[in-house]
Amino acid sequence: MQLTIAILGGDGIGPEVVEQSIKCLRSVEETFGHSFTFKKAPLGADALKKTGTPLPKKTLEICKASDAILFGALGAPEFDQNPKTEVWPEQGLLKLRQELELFANIRPVKVFPSLVKQSPIPKATVQGTDLVIYRELSAGIYYGEKFRNEETNSATDICTYSEKEISRITHLAFKAAKGRRKKVTLVDKANVLETSRLWRRVVQTIAQSYPEVTLNCMFVDNAAVQMILAPKQFDVILTDNMFGDILSDQGSVIAGSIGLLPSASIGVENAMFEPIHGSFSEAKGKNIANPVASILSVAMLLEHFKMKEESDAVVAAVLKSFSKKIVTPDIMGSSKYGTDYVGDFIADNIMELDGSFNINDENIGLGKSTII
Ligand code: IPM
Ligand code: MG
Repeated sequence: MQLTIAILGGDGIGPEVVEQSIKCLRSVEETFGHSFTFKKAPLGADALKKTGTPLPKKTLEICKASDAILFGALGAPEFDQNPKTEVWPEQGLLKLRQELELFANIRPVKVFPSLVKQSPIPKATVQGTDLVIYRELSAGIYYGEKFRNEETNSATDICTYSEKEISRITHLAFKAAKGRRKKVTLVDKANVLETSRLWRRVVQTIAQSYPEVTLNCMFVDNAAVQMILAPKQFDVILTDNMFGDILSDQGSVIAGSIGLLPSASIGVENAMFEPIHGSFSEAKGKNIANPVASILSVAMLLEHFKMKEESDAVVAAVLKSFSKKIVTPDIMGSSKYGTDYVGDFIADNIMELDGSFNINDENIGLGKSTII
């Protein structure tokens, strides 16, 4: 398969983790005989400083002309901490999502058996968790009108949803549930918000055309508690833009590290793949960032293009890195392996699918990922 992939490293640790994903894609290319063309483009704080806008026109053009986008992370403390900031790096990402109509953000939360002890939540509670959040990404409070009234020192963010915006992601969530454990949980705040009441009406109606899938509705405050107390009860969580943002970060606590969770943002014609973590600027250039979330986003990208075997190979190589403890310090405090090393290890292992090879642990200890 031939694919053109836009590479938006972004800010902070974004470019470092995406670099590891490119290595993995090169491995897939070589192993399975595909042809991937990468087009790098700036987005976020870096782009804002250089060009005056966080989403330069050229970047948007490259994204539109690509089959897929691999994005790292964005944001920088100098903007977050400056009360005079008028244009935020994050606006670049929001505009990109809007321009490409990326309406469904899919965020799987899985507990890997070899990392089950990573989670601060008891093993018996998290073991076997396998849920996926379908977060609406193109509307709601993120995109409603915003006002600030300097005289009264007040501010407003409007939250609007239309039936169309709710129904297109709802269909995706129900279709996904059909191929999983056949359960959708709509998370909302229908006891307070009018938009949530519309969500319930629309989702309950659509649910009737998926009789094999069970729908239940849960208020977001309760869902936040349930995700920690009993995460295994969830299969597909369907929710709006803001609730999905919050709950997916919370999901990373179940998995053990925010450096592990990938995501896919699907639109009508485009798709973007990115870790759920942020730019973690303090770690930039220190070679300590966990590349796994970005690499698992590559697995989602491959699956999106029906390259199932290729996607499985990437996941298998990631699992191998866990079992061999080739992990970054967020997973194992005493680990001496850096971003680069973990990326090399996973990329090398994608080429070895049958598991009939041995890793020379001695060389690994020396910092050489020799496969014998
Ligand atoms: C995410 C991020 C973004 C969001 C930010 C960077 C705008 O937190 O993708 O979860 O809120 O959607
Ligand atoms: Mg977020």
